[in-house]
Amino acid sequence: MSGIERRHFLLGSAVTAIAAATVAKASAAETVALPSVDDAAIATDKAYWAAVGDLYDVDRSIANLENGYWGIMARPVLQAYLENTQRVNRQNTVYARNAFGKDAEDVCNRVAAAVGAAPEEIALTRGATEALQVLITGYNKLQPGDAVIYSDLDYDSMQYAMNALAPRRGVEVKTFAIPEPATREAVLEAYRAVLEATPKARLLMLTHLSHRTGLVMPIREIADMARSRGVDVVVDAAHSWGQMDFNVADLGADFVGFNLHKWIGAPIGMGFFYIRKDRLADIDRDLADEDWPKDDIRSRIHTGTTNFAATLTVPAALDLHAMISSKRKQARLTYLRNYWVKKARAIDTIEILTPDDAAMHAGITSFRVKGKISKDDNNALMVALRDQHKVLTVRRAGIAKGQCLRVSPALYTTEAELDQLVEGLNAISSS
Ligand SMILES: Cc1ncc(COP(=O)(O)O)c(C=O)c1O
Repeated sequence: MSGIERRHFLLGSAVTAIAAATVAKASAAETVALPSVDDAAIATDKAYWAAVGDLYDVDRSIANLENGYWGIMARPVLQAYLENTQRVNRQNTVYARNAFGKDAEDVCNRVAAAVGAAPEEIALTRGATEALQVLITGYNKLQPGDAVIYSDLDYDSMQYAMNALAPRRGVEVKTFAIPEPATREAVLEAYRAVLEATPKARLLMLTHLSHRTGLVMPIREIADMARSRGVDVVVDAAHSWGQMDFNVADLGADFVGFNLHKWIGAPIGMGFFYIRKDRLADIDRDLADEDWPKDDIRSRIHTGTTNFAATLTVPAALDLHAMISSKRKQARLTYLRNYWVKKARAIDTIEILTPDDAAMHAGITSFRVKGKISKDDNNALMVALRDQHKVLTVRRAGIAKGQCLRVSPALYTTEAELDQLVEGLNAISSS
């Protein structure tokens, strides 16, 4: 291993004429240098991941294994965000009125290129919730008497939005449970069975990487299966993009919601949705929008005044993401997951909720103590791990077979912190 990979970070997005003078003054653009690595052994390269870890200012007083909530910004991204905030605040409406529109368009184009979509297929949102609400509630192909389907592992607010389609669109809402323990075949069979049992289905909610258990779904196969039965899918990719190496075409879905403030590490308040070019008419325009033409995807979301600086900082987050690369991120996060899971599987009382099949998980995995499925059981376990062992996890509910705790390491997580978790699990299981 030798050499250094360097990238110079432009703090901000496109520098428009009106903003150029101030940007030039504000931006002492940062250079990120990482050791160059052998990609065959990337997951365990100590020097590389120590250098990546050093890009994050982390409170190490507790081993934070709850990085699924949101992903903190690395220092160069945070620096860009602070400078963008100062710039926007200083330039005020001179910037917002004259230059933000073009800058936002450039950011959108950048996001589209990164996810492998055409610019006209992407619109920015404040997160995956907003993105998926647009897609679920805006989907206008449903007729009274049709059915829509979701599973126990889909995200709560997406389940609620699907439920809201019953009174709004006059549809039946069908729910089902993902098999546990899951296998690829069992998951595919569960989707096949629910589609078979619901011939009136027209819309299926699918979560690429479950926030409850970390299970990764074979999205493409399920989407193809649904399409062959005339069922559209809305994919929740809130947790997958940035954590896993794929682009939007790999999903085989026409409607997808994404996050930028989880695994891409952009400032909080950033997400986006994808609508395949020839499907735009199937999502209603936003009730609050008459500004954009109806064949412009921006007419599907009218957020109002947004956090300009957060938008402007997305390119810095994408720069760092590209520099490390989604392939390396997935390899590292998967390695960290396997590191603790292998040790936890050796503890009799612990049940791991995602299979070791590499296609069925990435960095997130949940566990429970056998038989402990209630809220109180899992709260007590979370508190014991946090207070006695200094390890932060989070309780997850809504799984048909019972509640659990979720473990989500970040790129800065160390093996020692995962050992702390395993020590806690050993102590709990022998108490
Ligand atoms: C699977 C999934 N979908 C959607 C969301 C919503 O994302 P946000 O809160 O960033 O809008 C989350 C957030 O945790 C999630 O885990």
